[in-house]
Amino acid sequence: MPETSVQSSTAGNAPDSPAAPASPAPPLVEFRNVTKRFGEGPEAKVAIQDVSFTVEDVPDHGEMIGIVGPSGCGKSTILRILGGLRPHFPPSSGEVLLHGKPVENAGADRGMVDQKYSLLPHLTVLDNVAFGLKLAGTPKAERRERAAEWVRKVGLEGAERKYPAELSGGMQQRVAIAATLILRPRVLLMDEPFGALDPKIRLQMQELLVQLWREQESTVFLVTHSVEEAIYLGDRVLRLASKPGRLIEVLEVPRPDEPPEVMRRRPWFREAEQELLRRLEDDLPAGGPLARP
Ligand SMILES: Nc1ncnc2c1ncn2[C@@H]1O[C@H](COP(=O)(O)OP(=O)(O)OP(=O)(O)O)[C@@H](O)[C@H]1O
Ligand SMILES: [Mg+2]
Repeated sequence: MPETSVQSSTAGNAPDSPAAPASPAPPLVEFRNVTKRFGEGPEAKVAIQDVSFTVEDVPDHGEMIGIVGPSGCGKSTILRILGGLRPHFPPSSGEVLLHGKPVENAGADRGMVDQKYSLLPHLTVLDNVAFGLKLAGTPKAERRERAAEWVRKVGLEGAERKYPAELSGGMQQRVAIAATLILRPRVLLMDEPFGALDPKIRLQMQELLVQLWREQESTVFLVTHSVEEAIYLGDRVLRLASKPGRLIEVLEVPRPDEPPEVMRRRPWFREAEQELLRRLEDDLPAGGPLARP
């Protein structure tokens, strides 16, 4: 079987390197040869095979990791394994470490915005956003105040008392985003969070995410079908291929230090976007660094 694991460029020195400095803290996230099969025997479906990568725990600097690849290549599987969410978790083999310890279940340190936004249908927008704070025991007045603030941040002021069924898909998605971000998770797992949004709101939500990410220094894993979004938002982009799902390369991209509508017009950006699209469309092998400013 070919060795398909890819180490990120910040993965630290190889253990056998004589110059390797002692690492003061374990990496934030580590996937070591992680394989997930659904089913048994010849009918088994390999969702991801031998995926390895490392995300360092850099103080005061949460990373944004974009994940791209064709449908079915295992993007959601990677997020859900890291989130400790069944049936994807546990993996069939390999190790997933968070702060150097094996992931054993779901936890409040990892917040998930799911591909199928999962709101509680019998709760209003405000109560959906406040729900996690309620579970955490935050007093009622405080959680209502903080939830109202978050409803405003995602542009849904006025919809506080509506129920999910009364909202469009894009509005429901913004409620789901607010409900997760309000909890300030250390690791944020976002599975196509902006897929259902119109282009204008999508840009606004990207800017909001960048702002919050700077404030909270969370490490964000963002699955997206938009190459443009991955290059804009990411510090690094994991590119996967399918059949079986595997990690092909880890690409470094510049931080989003300009508004999306400005950055995406830059010549280097367009070049990087075209190149990544080409690699994705043709499922090409690792192809080296993308264009940078
Ligand atoms: N619960 C499950 N049972 C069986 N097979 C599954 C299950 N969940 C995922 N798979 C399979 O694992 C593979 C990876 O699925 P996954 O949902 O991770 O892909 P993805 O990259 O997120 O795709 P998409 O872009 O369509 O969301 C697919 O072939 C899928 O059919
Ligand atoms: Mg998916």
